[in-house]
Amino acid sequence: MAPDRDGPVARDGSPYPDRARPTFEREVRAMFASIADRYDAFNHLATFGLDLVWRPRALWELDRYRHLPVRRALDVGCGTGGLARRLADRYPRAEVVAVDFSRAMVAAAGRRRRTPRALGVANASRLPFADGTFDLVASAFVARNFADLRGTARELCRVLRPGGSLLTLEVSEPASPTVRRLFHAHFDRVVPMIGRAFGREGPYRYLPESLRRFPSVREVVTILDAAGFVRAVARPISMGIVTAYLAEAPARGQRG
Ligand SMILES: C[S@@+](CC[C@H](N)C(=O)[O-])C[C@H]1O[C@@H](n2cnc3c(N)ncnc32)[C@H](O)[C@@H]1O
Repeated sequence: MAPDRDGPVARDGSPYPDRARPTFEREVRAMFASIADRYDAFNHLATFGLDLVWRPRALWELDRYRHLPVRRALDVGCGTGGLARRLADRYPRAEVVAVDFSRAMVAAAGRRRRTPRALGVANASRLPFADGTFDLVASAFVARNFADLRGTARELCRVLRPGGSLLTLEVSEPASPTVRRLFHAHFDRVVPMIGRAFGREGPYRYLPESLRRFPSVREVVTILDAAGFVRAVARPISMGIVTAYLAEAPARGQRG
């Protein structure tokens, strides 16, 4: 990401995206492009490997929730393809499509041997798919980066067929005060430190910042309801450090 004297910078002088600026989306894309090669290693280290457990656990929650078989699934904001590969493993007969708005991330996903081949560059807020294309739209650790969460939720609902499921996995604030204290210490202090060890602190300073600005678990459920979904629920994972949000596209004729 190019240094920008007007935007926020970390202690080592590296910039990070600022939601208050009109350039936020562009800044997010540039930031993810700049860390695409180190993304997996950083993620496993910063979460002590728990991220490898969270995606399968979220799919386990999804399977207890959904009504329809998964024949066509979309991974939005696929990054290096971790969730798309899980989807392909879990639903071996499904067509799995994966998109991300960072070309560098899509390229990194494509270099992984087991990533589904239907990969493309697309913005979640303007998906290049017809209404009702997918039985499942899934995303992991993407929602807090959306410039317009409400509008993007409507777009995700649009590409789901009636009765199709949404799964959004996202970091969340734990309910227990003790776990919450540890959670904030980790994200505010340990994560940027690991970021410095990875070369630049900015992208990892953005992580706690983006969590602070993200709506509460209850608010996210309300936003999904307002975006046109039905049966929106939140399922806490790992003491609520992450939450799997599940929702269903309304039946034909019930769309708002
Ligand atoms: C934290 S990474 C998560 C990647 C992957 N889903 C995973 O589980 O590891 C967030 C990803 O979302 C992508 N992203 C953020 N906003 C997006 C948008 N509006 N449209 C498409 N992709 C987006 C970023 O480029 C980045 O690759």
